[in-house]
Amino acid sequence: DASDIEKGTYAHYMLKEIDEQPLVTRKIIQEYRAEDGSLHVDEEIVAAMKESDRVYIVAAGTSYHAGLVGKQLIEKMAKIPVEVHIASEFGYNMPLLSEKPLFIFISQSGETADSRAVLVNVKAMGYKALTVTNVPGSTLSREADYTLLLHAGPEIAVASTKAYTAQIAVLSILAAVTAEARGFALEFDLTKELGIIANAMEALCDEKDEFEQIARDFLADTRNAFFIGRGIDYYVGLEGSLKLKEISYIQAEGFAGGELKHGTIALIEDGTPIIALATQESVNLSIRGNVKEVVARGANPCIISMKGLEMNGDTFVIPEVHELLTPLISVVPLQLISYYAALHRGCDVDKPRNLAKSVTVE
Ligand code: G6P
Repeated sequence: DASDIEKGTYAHYMLKEIDEQPLVTRKIIQEYRAEDGSLHVDEEIVAAMKESDRVYIVAAGTSYHAGLVGKQLIEKMAKIPVEVHIASEFGYNMPLLSEKPLFIFISQSGETADSRAVLVNVKAMGYKALTVTNVPGSTLSREADYTLLLHAGPEIAVASTKAYTAQIAVLSILAAVTAEARGFALEFDLTKELGIIANAMEALCDEKDEFEQIARDFLADTRNAFFIGRGIDYYVGLEGSLKLKEISYIQAEGFAGGELKHGTIALIEDGTPIIALATQESVNLSIRGNVKEVVARGANPCIISMKGLEMNGDTFVIPEVHELLTPLISVVPLQLISYYAALHRGCDVDKPRNLAKSVTVE
């Protein structure tokens, strides 16, 4: 049928969409570049960011995980405090709002009912909202004051991949442009860095055999798996664990490296796979320490580190990029490992059981 043609030579949309990430990143640079080569976001959006004393990011699923990274980007670059909320919790558990909140809804489809319910609510309260979405004209885009588009092209696989990296790339541009408008100079050139990232994504997508082998080595017959990291790596671990459980049905959880010992470590048995991310210099030694703690209890560690921080015995080393932008590439190995784990287990990669691409009921 027609959908098979769009898949081209790919066995699954998910793999095609993972491979599209370098292209999407380059497309985003293009779409957000002004004539003079600088990055550009609509002035009214920058003004809304500047006027707000606190940003509230609201999203579900993978988009929520992108929001966690977005918080780091906006806080570190633009220096505006950010809270990130799960859409379905927000209505019942509304945080105390600041005086001048700005709401950012992140939604690949722009149709998620949980997020829309919050949008309707905060609009009725008189607040401004920005939607970051892949779908122009979607409900969340139409009903918000402003929209930033992902330009990722249609995402068909239920497990979101290219939308996640596109969301982070667009949020990094929003953070950078806001930073500049607020008079905070960045100590790096984001356009150049995103270009380096696109190349690094490409290099990772060329290592599929390696990730297939890692999936075999660590996830072939396991019941469960844990992802650990600190700081931004923790957030990427949450996304990695969601990817793995969505499509392979392996029970997977992401934890902050330092929090493991406060309970979760009780679950570690002989051979339990632990996927650890080590891309942050400031916590490199502490996450290594957390790996030692679980290895001492029998865990089978798969360590994904970054060039410059690698140590003997690391399973895979990703290329070096700016420390704030590592999620854009550290997630790629996790996406591919999940894909191959699901494939080996004979799961329906593109249409996992019980899941829908967009959930339009609350
Ligand atoms: C569904 C999908 C997830 C997605 C979430 C949010 O649950 O299965 O992959 O992350 O909705 O979707 P959205 O379109 O709002 O980003």
